Amino acid sequence: MEIRELTTSDLTAVMAIEPELFGDDAWTENSMTSEIAGQFTHYFGVFEDELVGYGGISSIPNSFASDIQTIGITQSRQGQGLGRMLAEALLAKAKSLGSEAVFLDVRADNSGAIALYKKLGFVQIDVRKNYYRPAGVDALVMKLEIYQPIVLGVESTCDETGIGIVKGNRLLANALHSSMDEHAKFGGVVPEVAARAHLEAMQPTIQRALQEAGLSMSQVDAIAVANGPGLAGALMVGIGAAKALAIANDKPIYAVNHLVGHVGADVLESGSVTLPTIALLVSGGHTSLLLVRDLLDDVELLGETIDDAAGEAFDKVARVLGLPYPGGPEIDKLAATGDPKAIRFPRGLSLPKDMVKHRFDFSFSGLKTAVARHVEKAEDHGLPLSKPDVAASFREAAVDVLITKAINACERYQVRRLLLGGGVVANARLRQVAKERCDAAGIELRIPRFSLCTDNGAMIASLGAQLVMAGRAPSSLGFGAESTLEVTKVQSL
Ligand code: KG4
Ligand code: ZN
Repeated sequence: MEIRELTTSDLTAVMAIEPELFGDDAWTENSMTSEIAGQFTHYFGVFEDELVGYGGISSIPNSFASDIQTIGITQSRQGQGLGRMLAEALLAKAKSLGSEAVFLDVRADNSGAIALYKKLGFVQIDVRKNYYRPAGVDALVMKLEIYQPIVLGVESTCDETGIGIVKGNRLLANALHSSMDEHAKFGGVVPEVAARAHLEAMQPTIQRALQEAGLSMSQVDAIAVANGPGLAGALMVGIGAAKALAIANDKPIYAVNHLVGHVGADVLESGSVTLPTIALLVSGGHTSLLLVRDLLDDVELLGETIDDAAGEAFDKVARVLGLPYPGGPEIDKLAATGDPKAIRFPRGLSLPKDMVKHRFDFSFSGLKTAVARHVEKAEDHGLPLSKPDVAASFREAAVDVLITKAINACERYQVRRLLLGGGVVANARLRQVAKERCDAAGIELRIPRFSLCTDNGAMIASLGAQLVMAGRAPSSLGFGAESTLEVTKVQSL
């Protein structure tokens, strides 16, 4: 006996028993196809050599609830516990989707089904009179509450101390302290300063998150912490704090990958990460292009920067133009009044010869140098220099190469979805170009709200919760900071 999720390739088998299971209420092949293939519906079949029954749930993201649509076992196999197993598979799916409640309608005269649902913990919450026509039988509305884990996430990979709290897929708190201002006079993040700032901000940020969620530490079920990639000293502070919380409160701990956390953030925005997806993560610390087939088990690094991160390039070019740190927003502002076509700056790793080894990698140091040369040359020769034109042309080059490579990855892997994450996503031109080119190519563009795009604790908590919900074992306390943690390692055990 096997229970597994159905695909449209099971349609013939389903339609072969649908009339027997549901008689006059049987669905047509068309409606069954859209049920099985639907984005928000999940069907499971019971197989004993052949299909002997099936059932489905629908779960609209962000509703935090599922509805059992249908469930049925062929007559000859009834009374063997198959219905219960099928129902349990549907409930497990609902739980993994983040549902906090499951609802169903059942005929008031179907005493066998009602008894089964009661055994599974459903309670009757309503009656719909004369619901089933033409017989005029009542429908009982039943509900089962599902407990979702409360996870506190610790983020300290760079200059943001983030503590987030989630319950399943639901965001409860996202407290943040940034040491950005302390790095401003150095023109970039200073690792030792960041680590010290984490140390000072950690306790108050934890308190703030708990307060925001209206919870005490004892109500938290598990701790999650980003253990890389990031700055070693900064990571150690977050990991130390997370381990201390776990030990002192006797909670399991999950060490998770910061980059995968950026992808997981979309769960909090849209109720789930629709997969597969290409993800472009662009911040002051990383520029990574990922192919995510499965959030917990199958994340592939397609390419990354071989020198500066995208945000770093904005920060360095801003310095050349005499703008304050962080440079991204400043360049964005200045570029708005400039001509993006004024100067043709180089697009890194975009030549035909780069397409073999570095098709999905990025390089911004050549671009940064070209901008610096342009500015120097103008100054040396006393030529007029339009800073807005330089800013706009630089921004155009950086954005062009980022989005071109991301869309190429979508095409190459035939994934019609692109998720953006990281602080550089704030860039107005990046958002505009991403939207235009995704629309033109028929690619769904996903951009979580900005507070979930930049480094934050909620995305770490969310990834931790996904691991808990999938029944994964916690990490042992032996894990450490991994500055260069590879993206394929979603959880460090
Ligand atoms: O994700 P994030 O907040 O944190 C870390 O990298 O730690 O990203 C910060 C980076 C900085 O380099 C900043 O200059 C860049 O994101 N950034 C921008 C914009 N806003 C922030 N870059 C380009 N355009 C922007 N509007
Ligand atoms: Zn990040």
